[in-house]
This record gives sequence, C-alpha cells and structure tokens, in this order.
Amino acid sequence: MKLEISDYEYNNIVSDILRNKEFKKLENYTHHKTSRLEHSKRVSLYSYKICKLLKLDYVSAARGGLLHDFFFNKYKENKARTLMKDHPKIALKNAKKHFKINKIEANIIESHMYPLNIKCKPRYAESFIVSTVDKMSCLYEKSVGYTNEICFRVGKTAIYMFLFLFS
Ligand SMILES: [Fe+2]
Ligand SMILES: [Fe+2]
Repeated sequence: MKLEISDYEYNNIVSDILRNKEFKKLENYTHHKTSRLEHSKRVSLYSYKICKLLKLDYVSAARGGLLHDFFFNKYKENKARTLMKDHPKIALKNAKKHFKINKIEANIIESHMYPLNIKCKPRYAESFIVSTVDKMSCLYEKSVGYTNEICFRVGKTAIYMFLFLFS
C-alpha cells in the first residue's frame, strides 16, 4: 500500500519535511492499518491535487496535510478519545518546532479533526479540503487493511483444511 509519488513540483514542496529525521519516525507508528507516514503522505498528495485544481493555496495544503498527524503518541484504549481530540494540538506543536508554519498550515493541522472536535474550526477552504481528504483516506486505508486481513485469514484456513484433508 506504499504510495509512489512522481509529481516533481509536489516532491519539491515537501522534500524538506520528508527528509527530516524526526518526521521520518512516523514510519514506525501504525495508523488506520497503515503507517502514520504513509497516511500523512496520502492526505497531503490528494489535498495538494484538489487544491491545485481549484486554484487554492496548494503549497500550504501539501505541507499542512503532511504535518497534520505529526505526533508520536500511540492510541491506547483508555486514552483513545482524549488523544483523538488532542493530537492536532500536539502535531501543531511538533510542526512549529521543526518547520516554519504559516497561518493556513497551522489551521489545517489544528482543525483537521473537525467536526469530531468542534472547538477548532477550519477557517480556510484548504483546511476543509485536508480535513475531508483525511476522513476519506482513513476509510480507504481501513477497508484495504481489513480486506487484506480477511484474505489472509481465509487463505490460511484453506491451507490448514487442505493439509488436514490430504495428509
Ligand atoms: Fe489526525
Ligand atoms: Fe489523519
């Protein structure tokens, strides 16, 4: 499910983020049945494409989208709700620590959980787009992840049955 990105302009816009040592650590965190890095790249790339098509600030959409889940906490059952609400703030703090963030990028990051977190609203069209792409990506990644798991289990059961019947 790795995302290969061949868009030269896009790669130029986000290259400093993708090269950043701290940011690269997101690869080690599972997120929606994929890695947090892959999820962030997917949200960033599709937000960039949509904003470019609509003649919006696609640079901020690409960068804000890439940084929207820049946090290293893991979802544990008892704290999942709190983290779901708080992680945009943590991501914004991390983004500001490592990169220069403009006001559109900041709003993209802090409001991407809207309306699940109604306190922070998207104030720009780019923020609405990233927030929507984030939700669509989550659905896509989870469905691919669950489909792969089901196929794996069905395949494993078929092999066991075959071995049981013919050994
Ligand atoms: Fe998020
Ligand atoms: Fe996300």
